[in-house]
Amino acid sequence: MGKIVLTADRPTGKLHLGHLVGSLENRIKLQEDKNYSKIFIMLADGQALTDNSKNPEIIRDNIIQVLIDYLSVGLDPDIVTFCIQSQLPALSELNFYYLNLVTTARLERNPTVKTEIEIKKFGKEGLPVGFYTYPISQAADITAFHADVVPVGDDQRPMIEQTREIVQKFNSIYGEVLTMPDGLYPKNAKSSRLVGIDGGTKMSKTVGNCIYISEDEKSLKKKVMSMYTDKDHININDPGKIENNVVFTYLDVFCEDRHFSEYFKDYKNLDEMKEHYKRGGLGDVACKNFLFNILNEKISKYRVSRKKWESKIGDIYDIVLNGTKVAIETTERTISEVKSAMNIDFFTDKTKIVKNWEQCLSV
Ligand code: TRP
Repeated sequence: MGKIVLTADRPTGKLHLGHLVGSLENRIKLQEDKNYSKIFIMLADGQALTDNSKNPEIIRDNIIQVLIDYLSVGLDPDIVTFCIQSQLPALSELNFYYLNLVTTARLERNPTVKTEIEIKKFGKEGLPVGFYTYPISQAADITAFHADVVPVGDDQRPMIEQTREIVQKFNSIYGEVLTMPDGLYPKNAKSSRLVGIDGGTKMSKTVGNCIYISEDEKSLKKKVMSMYTDKDHININDPGKIENNVVFTYLDVFCEDRHFSEYFKDYKNLDEMKEHYKRGGLGDVACKNFLFNILNEKISKYRVSRKKWESKIGDIYDIVLNGTKVAIETTERTISEVKSAMNIDFFTDKTKIVKNWEQCLSV
């Protein structure tokens, strides 16, 4: 039997190039890898509500956007099982029991949650309990599928650690029931934290510095042209800086040698181009046009596929319905195993329980 893969995204908005190079491209590779027998991708709408309780419609409406993003970039519904978290009651049930296996002190130590709390500024209303405990519900997600491998970004390492601790604790109390998962992290640092077009932070919808996978040609051009470069590179002949120059950061991630023969014949490869920029004599607009052509080539493939899927919404409904049915079966099986290990499977075998209750009375 091959390994089981589970991963998930919060459907808070359309997916962007950060998602593409940080996770989607890896998932597409996993589809072709025979070591993995089952791949589940879940829309974590329940988790998204932990910090969006006031605007639930945003989460609900983005489910279809994210599904179309998945399908347009080439995740194959014949290989991947897509499902919706809120439709899987076993996850809440597992969470109910796991909450007892984690201390508040342990939750406070989670660095990702700490940073998120600072960024999100919950303000006067205070921190929602569901948000504070989402690492535990994420452990429920992962273990419910008996996932061996969880492909996630670096920021999710603490969630995998937390899950592993819960698995260890559960199994030591109740017996070897849960599967110990491993995280699978992006190898290339630049891809795993693609900066936004402002160069300030990671690409993020909240910051508003994204290029979306579904971006049209005109707005893609506008965004590339607005990218931050080197503020001291005022005249073409001034020497330019490559470090923290967003255009070059993106070229490092997206540019291949073949792009030069297609779009920028002056150079053979990125090193040559960088040398010229550093020396002086290569203008920002030429660099941006080159990057635009590279990104547009990539995204235009997805645009075509997106158009196709947009005309088949009924089929997408069936894909996620059928996937969710499979996920319900899988996660219900796990909760049965868990309850049986915990000896709280009261209504599966009358003879067993009656006998046990008789013993309880006789001592
Ligand atoms: N926390 C993840 C994120 O924000 C989403 C997520 C929810 C997830 N449940 C999961 C990821 C289970 C992996 C496995 O990206």
